[in-house]
Amino acid sequence: MNVTVVGAGYVGLVTAACLAELGQRVVCVDHDQARVVLLQAGGVPIYEPGLDELVQRNQQAGRLRFTTSMALGVEHAEVLFIAVGTPPQEDGSADLQHVLAVARQVGRLLTHDLVVVNKSTVPVGTGEAVQRVIDEALRVRGCQGLACAVVSNPEFLKEGAAIEDFMRPDRIVIGVPPGPAGARARECLSQLYAPFNRHHERTVWMDVPSAELTKYAANAMLATRISFMNEMALLADRVGADIDAVRRGIGADQRIGHSFLYAGTGYGGSCFPKDTRALMHTAAAHGSPMRVVSAVEAVNRMQKRHLVGMVTQLMGEDLSGRRLAVWGLSFKPNTNDMREAPSRVVIQALLARGATVLAHDPVAGSEARRVLTEDMAAQPGLLQRLHLEESPEAVLLDADALLVLTEWKCFHSPDFARLRDLMREPLILDGRNLYDPALLQALGIAYLGIGRRN
Ligand code: UGA
Repeated sequence: MNVTVVGAGYVGLVTAACLAELGQRVVCVDHDQARVVLLQAGGVPIYEPGLDELVQRNQQAGRLRFTTSMALGVEHAEVLFIAVGTPPQEDGSADLQHVLAVARQVGRLLTHDLVVVNKSTVPVGTGEAVQRVIDEALRVRGCQGLACAVVSNPEFLKEGAAIEDFMRPDRIVIGVPPGPAGARARECLSQLYAPFNRHHERTVWMDVPSAELTKYAANAMLATRISFMNEMALLADRVGADIDAVRRGIGADQRIGHSFLYAGTGYGGSCFPKDTRALMHTAAAHGSPMRVVSAVEAVNRMQKRHLVGMVTQLMGEDLSGRRLAVWGLSFKPNTNDMREAPSRVVIQALLARGATVLAHDPVAGSEARRVLTEDMAAQPGLLQRLHLEESPEAVLLDADALLVLTEWKCFHSPDFARLRDLMREPLILDGRNLYDPALLQALGIAYLGIGRRN
C-alpha cells in the first residue's frame, strides 16, 4: 500500500520506518529541510534503540523515502498519517496549528480518494475539525466528490521501546467516522494492520471521539498509578512500611497487575505531563473538571522535589561547600529526552542552595547541558557549579551523597566498594529504588530510597 506519513518526529519516524518494514511503500514528509537532508543521508535525528538500522535498511530497499514536498506526499498516498507535533500552549491546551495546516494542504492538493489518519495526540473533536478543514478546501476547489475520511488512530508507543511497541501492539485503537467513507477507511486500515491481527484481533474499533479520548484516558490512568504509588510511598516512610513489598502485594491482584506501580522521582517526558494538562483543559472547557487527574498532577509536581527535601533534611537548607553526585538525567532510561525530566528540578534546586553538582548520564549529557543552560538562563552563576562528567565514577570523587535519578541499566549493579571508597560520605539517595537497603547497610553505605524500609 502507498502510505505517507507527515511529520518525521518521534511518532512519525517510527510509524514510517515500521510500516516500510512491513512492506508498505512509505513517503515521510517533514517541513524541516535540515532534518530531511539528514534522514536522506541515513542519519536519524532522535535516539531510539534500533531505529537507525530500520530507517537505513528500508531506505536502501527503496520502501522509505524522505521529502519536504507535501505535493509529493499527497500524490503518493492511499493512506496519509498526520504525525506532527501538538505542543502545549500556556494554558495547557494542545496547539493544533500544525495538524490543521497539514489538513489544509491535503485539501488543497488532493486529486484522488484518501484515508487520513490522525496519529498525533489530539483533543476530542480534532478529527472532526480536520475533516471540516479538508472538506472546505476541497469544496473551494470544486472537488467535493472526492472521498476523504478522517480516522483517529492514537499512538501508544513508549520511548526507548517504540519499535517493539509498534511491531507487537497490545491493541490498535481506531476510530472511524460513520457512513460509506468511514466504512472504506475501516477496510483500508484493516488491510494495513492485518499483520498484527493474524493470531488474534487486536484492533478495537470505535467512533472518532472515543478513540481520541482513549489516548488521554490511557495516559491519565498510567500517570494516576504512578502518583498514587508515590503518595503511598510517602506514607510507607512515615509508618515504617516498604513500598516495594506493598507494590508486589497489590500487583499480584490480577485486577491491578504489576506494571506502572514503581514509586520514584515523579513522571516526566513529553507525554504524561502534557496529556494530563491537556485533558484537564478539555474537561474544564466542557464543564466536567477532572479532580482525580488534577491531584495526580499536583502530587507529581511535589514528587519531583522529594529528593531535594531528603538532601536538605540531612544536610540543612544551605548546601554551600557540598558536592552532590547525580546518576541519570533523562526522564527515563534508553532515551536522551530531557522533557519534564525530574533531574531538571532537582539539579536546579540543589545549585540554588549552593551545592556543587556533578552529574553523569550515559546518553543525555549534551541534551542535558542544552536544557539546563536554558532553564538557568536567568541565573548563569548557578551553572558554574554544575559539572557534567563522562563516567559514573568521575562524579563520585569526594561526593557527600549520590542521587540516583534515572534507572539506566549501567547503574543497576555498581561496584559498591569502589563507590564507598571514592565518596567523602558514602550515602545513596535512590530515587528509583534500585538497590537493596540491607546489602548497602552491610557494606557501610548509608541508604535512603523512596518509601523503602531500611
Ligand atoms: C507514555 C506511555 O507509556 C505510552 O503508552 C504513550 O504512547 C506515550 O506516553 C505517549 O503518549 O506518546 P513514555 O512517555 O515514553 O510513554 O514513557 P513511560 O515509559 O510511560 O514513562 C513515563 C514516566 O513515568 C517516566 O518518567 C517514568 O520514569 C515514569 N514511571 C513509569 C514511573 O515513575 N513509575 C512507573 O512505574 C512507570
